[in-house]
Amino acid sequence: MTAKLFTPYTIKGVTLKNRIVMAPMCMYSSHNEDGHIQNWHRTHYTTRAVGQVGLIIVEATAVTPQGRISPQDLGIWSDDHIKGLQELTGLVKEHGAKIGIQLAHAGRKAELEGEIIAPSAIRFNEKSKLPKEMTKADIEETIAAFKKGAERAAKAGFDIIEIHGAHGYLINEFLSPLTNKRTDEYGGSAENRYRFLREVIEAVKTVWDGPLLVRVSAHDYHEDGLKPEDYINFAKWMKEQGVDLIDVSSGAVVPAKINVYPGYQVKYAETIKNGANIPTGAVGLITTAIQAEEILQNERADLVFLARELLRDPYWPRRAAKELGEEIIGPKQYERGWI
Ligand SMILES: Cc1cc2nc3c(=O)[nH]c(=O)nc-3n(C[C@H](O)[C@H](O)[C@H](O)COP(=O)(O)O)c2cc1C
Repeated sequence: MTAKLFTPYTIKGVTLKNRIVMAPMCMYSSHNEDGHIQNWHRTHYTTRAVGQVGLIIVEATAVTPQGRISPQDLGIWSDDHIKGLQELTGLVKEHGAKIGIQLAHAGRKAELEGEIIAPSAIRFNEKSKLPKEMTKADIEETIAAFKKGAERAAKAGFDIIEIHGAHGYLINEFLSPLTNKRTDEYGGSAENRYRFLREVIEAVKTVWDGPLLVRVSAHDYHEDGLKPEDYINFAKWMKEQGVDLIDVSSGAVVPAKINVYPGYQVKYAETIKNGANIPTGAVGLITTAIQAEEILQNERADLVFLARELLRDPYWPRRAAKELGEEIIGPKQYERGWI
């Protein structure tokens, strides 16, 4: 029997050669502070493609300069960014991997000079900056920036777009009642808190008809915050809007103590998959092939996202194949050392 980890998976016409996804990870390596791709990005992402990862999702890439977490974040706020990103997609695709990009806005978690924005003027913690409450014009501009980002991602040759709705960044700040205290149509009820994400998805969809993923934080770990059950509802709406898969993470909306253990977020991916009848990706302390295979075979998620384990070992897919008694094809140049 073939291990499910090494079976292909098709999302809206894009076929991944296996179920292994490199989760988005900020490299803070755009050292000229202009959002541009550098050699580090070329080397880092291409290495995982050589290592036979099925889908590589490029780190949180800011749709506006103000939406960066740090000045060294990647950016997609200008047409000038397309060329570097296009080079990157070309390099990765050469090795048979598919490549996605995470479109992001940091909201109140931007650690930048100048004004930062959020749904409400509430700091993340006492050390962080006070954000400005977004006006309607700010909201419209930011939605337009996500749309332009998606348009540029298409031009750069990405196979997949992931919208960053997790980890307490801007979209997540709109979704959670802990960070959204607005009294207009963007705050209050779940429908209203979802409105910003709804409009971002709608705008992206006007310029992008490829696979669309959304990453969510399915648990705020706070008694007044959102729980996985709340995300079943949001996921149903996302599905209606044509989102293809939910990448299920958790936390980082407000400072909280999180009990982490192997696969600690898998149950949220399972809850959302079953509750909203939508494909999901599981992430978080997944390190072994057995763990990944268990998640897939028990249909707890459709894809397995790895972050830190792929930093430790870019050839993790080869190691996982060995663990599961599979043989996977590696780069021809490595034939003598691969098996
Ligand atoms: C260095 C680093 C950078 C990260 N940057 C991002 C990011 O850009 N976007 C995101 O959604 N998550 C980011 N994360 C979270 C990971 O994608 C992942 O959800 C988390 O590390 C848990 O998975 P793991 O246990 O396999 O590392 C980052 C994690 C690390 C370690």
